[in-house]
Amino acid sequence: MSDVLQQVESGVMTLTLNRLDKKNSFTAAMYAELAEALRGAADDAAVRVVLFQGHETIFSAGNDIGDFLNKPPSTPDSPVFRFLNAIATFPKPLLAAVCGPAVGIGTTMLLHCDLVYAGDNAMFSMPFVNLGLCPEAASSLLAPRMFGYHRAAEALLMGEPFFAEAAQEVGLVNRVVPPTEVNGYAQAQARKLAAKPLSSLIATKRLMKGGDQQAVLQKMDEEGQSFGRMLREPAAKEAFGAFMEKRKPDFSKL
Ligand code: COA
Repeated sequence: MSDVLQQVESGVMTLTLNRLDKKNSFTAAMYAELAEALRGAADDAAVRVVLFQGHETIFSAGNDIGDFLNKPPSTPDSPVFRFLNAIATFPKPLLAAVCGPAVGIGTTMLLHCDLVYAGDNAMFSMPFVNLGLCPEAASSLLAPRMFGYHRAAEALLMGEPFFAEAAQEVGLVNRVVPPTEVNGYAQAQARKLAAKPLSSLIATKRLMKGGDQQAVLQKMDEEGQSFGRMLREPAAKEAFGAFMEKRKPDFSKL
């Protein structure tokens, strides 16, 4: 079974993260598949809305750590950057249904979604600092803007998780519902949107995003360069080594 399931019905493309044994962490192959699906969906008249969903126990544990260590993204054409570019420039509505942990890119990708629904068990975190890394997906631009600077600093500098209610309060989440109902609720909202005139949806999204896209892409590029360099440095090596060895990292000399 594929790690990403794709289904198109009633104008809604549903992309389901389906790598439960590794907590839906993203491999390079998954990024490539998602980027390709979005590229196709942008041009496909049968797709009017795209919905990301995970499982009612987990949205995603972020990047697959082993995969990242073995095959760090090295060029702007790397699958992760193609995926980020695709979500940042996708012209039609993007929705997400989130339950359980949404770590790293599991949270930052939501900053690019138009509507986000969460289970009351959702836990969001951007622990880049704790991994010896820096923000990605333009989260260093979009999180301060959405949450306010100090709340973004708490999430990005402390790297501490925050939960469904706080995520709704800062504007990351539209509505919190019981975990068993999230995917169904998001699907119903997606179908409501898909029944509306596509040209109006596209124009409205484009107008709301305004001239922002260039700044977002530029920030992603800037972050990507730092992130790529930091992945190879001692702090990230210690953090990832500790995760693999199931121990606490020791940054005392770094
Ligand atoms: N990359 C690779 N494997 C991962 C992973 C990741 N990001 N997150 C979890 N896994 C694997 C674990 O190694 C474990 O594999 P194993 O069964 O072969 O030992 C399996 O998924 C289950 O993970 P576990 O940690 O036991 O699940 P949990 O329910 O106790 O905790 C999380 C879930 C998401 C809170 C926890 O897995 C976690 O914090 N993951 C790392 C998140 C992270 O730092 N991501 C990187 C962001 S850039």
